[in-house]
Amino acid sequence: MKTTEEKYIVFHRNVLDGLSEIHDKSVQTCVTSPPYYNLRDYGVEGQIGLEATPEEYIQNLVQVFRHVRRVLKDDGTLWIVIGDSYNGSGKAKGDKNIDKFLQRSNKSSHSTKPTKVSSLKSRDLIGIPWMLAFALRADGWYLRQDIIWSKPNPMPESVKNRCTKSHEYVFLLSKSPKYYFDYEALEEPATGYDNRKDIVMKEFVYPVRRKRSVWTIPTQPFKGAHFAVFPESLAELCVIAGSKEGDVVLDVFSGAATTGKVALQNNRIYRGYEINADFIEIGKNRI
Ligand SMILES: C[S@@+](CC[C@H](N)C(=O)[O-])C[C@H]1O[C@@H](n2cnc3c(N)ncnc32)[C@H](O)[C@@H]1O
Repeated sequence: MKTTEEKYIVFHRNVLDGLSEIHDKSVQTCVTSPPYYNLRDYGVEGQIGLEATPEEYIQNLVQVFRHVRRVLKDDGTLWIVIGDSYNGSGKAKGDKNIDKFLQRSNKSSHSTKPTKVSSLKSRDLIGIPWMLAFALRADGWYLRQDIIWSKPNPMPESVKNRCTKSHEYVFLLSKSPKYYFDYEALEEPATGYDNRKDIVMKEFVYPVRRKRSVWTIPTQPFKGAHFAVFPESLAELCVIAGSKEGDVVLDVFSGAATTGKVALQNNRIYRGYEINADFIEIGKNRI
């Protein structure tokens, strides 16, 4: 029987330096969300997200995920939660709200100046998620799915010339064409049985259907010092579909360790990397 200290380890390291603490082909799934491009300064040398151009940011992420591919088992998967940003138009109201929140509760990061990418027009959507997805595919990953994380409670925005942004992407990538994916763990109640191929009767009692690719999950407020945490239920869907009990689950941008918390709750082993010592402490206190 492993102790919690053995099951849960976060390395205080710059993940760009590699994952030397982890053996090749020992991790079943990696569930992570990289820092947004040019949104937060986490105040630590070597952090990802403050690169001068989106291209440099994407290159750094490709390098990080190359290390991840080495430590993944051949049938392993990578789940990346990632959002987009606009060029040069200043911060949206939502971002200003984030700043107020941070001033009250977070001394470990502060927001950056508005993004100015010279190759783009002011107000262009940069397209970060798809830039990353295509770059990872070109680097050898199998790009398997773009899942939409739909937020019923998005950050309010004052803009009147487009819709309020209420989604992010969850990309599912695999190391090999065939990989471990427990679709049954994701099955959800179906409203009725109508002979659709993806609806089955479970134990002849209730109809279930395959999970669809739009996941509606509210953002979850977190009182710790770290702002950009993803909801536990979002991380849990990736963990239970991507691994079995006893498997190793990795998050290379561990933050407040939402993936770690969910991994332990589901009897997995957790390994994380985090450059900011304050966040490692917050994660530990959550477990
Ligand atoms: C979006 S947050 C992750 C939040 C996490 N998903 C959670 O729910 O708590 C990204 C994290 O990446 C960390 N980070 C940034 N650059 C890093 C680097 N080079 N190596 C390791 N961690 C890094 C930041 O300190 C931040 O905590």
